[in-house]
Amino acid sequence: MRTIDAESLTRNNLAYREPAFYDEFLTEDSLAGDIRDVAARENNPALSVLDLGCGTARLLGELFRHGITGAGIDVQPDLIDWARTEHPALRLEVADLRTVRLGSTFDLVVCVGNTLSYLHTEPELAAAFTTAAAHSHPGTLLAVATVIGAGRDCSTTSDIATSLGPATVDTVSEWNPAESLLSTRRTWRFSNGRAEHDSMCRRFWSIDEIDRCVRASGFDTTSTGTTELTFCAKWPR
Ligand SMILES: C[S@@+](CC[C@H](N)C(=O)[O-])C[C@H]1O[C@@H](n2cnc3c(N)ncnc32)[C@H](O)[C@@H]1O
Repeated sequence: MRTIDAESLTRNNLAYREPAFYDEFLTEDSLAGDIRDVAARENNPALSVLDLGCGTARLLGELFRHGITGAGIDVQPDLIDWARTEHPALRLEVADLRTVRLGSTFDLVVCVGNTLSYLHTEPELAAAFTTAAAHSHPGTLLAVATVIGAGRDCSTTSDIATSLGPATVDTVSEWNPAESLLSTRRTWRFSNGRAEHDSMCRRFWSIDEIDRCVRASGFDTTSTGTTELTFCAKWPR
């Protein structure tokens, strides 16, 4: 399986280099509410959660405020260090979501915030859902949020206000339709003269590819694309 270079992930994204900046951008979304709604609809007790590719553990922190405790893993040590400081009550480990085995099961397994776009091949996607299955018990809910469909070549410039000051952000993306990969280069130019450069390569999955791998790992599909979540599935009772 492809080696994931955690150091290069951190080096090539301002949000990973500065986790406080990351959290600032992603505090507004309603994922935690959507996950709790799906759990209630499925009669899931939602007492424990495993977050695969948890980043700064922003979602785990939000769920913890609603009485759901659990664990998060991420391949980037700096993000896990940050998350441990911000969320001392949570179990947080540096690990690869394709292979990690924590030896426990959870009521919810989540993989959100486009984490799955960092996996580039179908065997890697299948390995992620095998990991989810290995941490599931009867009734466990799997919730996925990732970018879906076809990308496109594009070039944009936008002015945004950030906690680091006003910034002009130039983004150039190239779409590779043969591999469903979007390569993106981004430059942040802050008003104080600071410039930051990012680059990333993300896989856009189709619902069919996700559905196939989720079912092959033993889950039943429950819903697709109805909320901010891309996909939900359940470990059979
Ligand atoms: C866009 S961030 C999303 C983080 C978090 N899920 C959120 O919603 O804030 C993608 C995360 O996936 C992590 N990641 C990518 N590949 C991984 C792998 N193979 N194992 C564990 N984490 C991985 C990255 O380190 C990064 O923190």
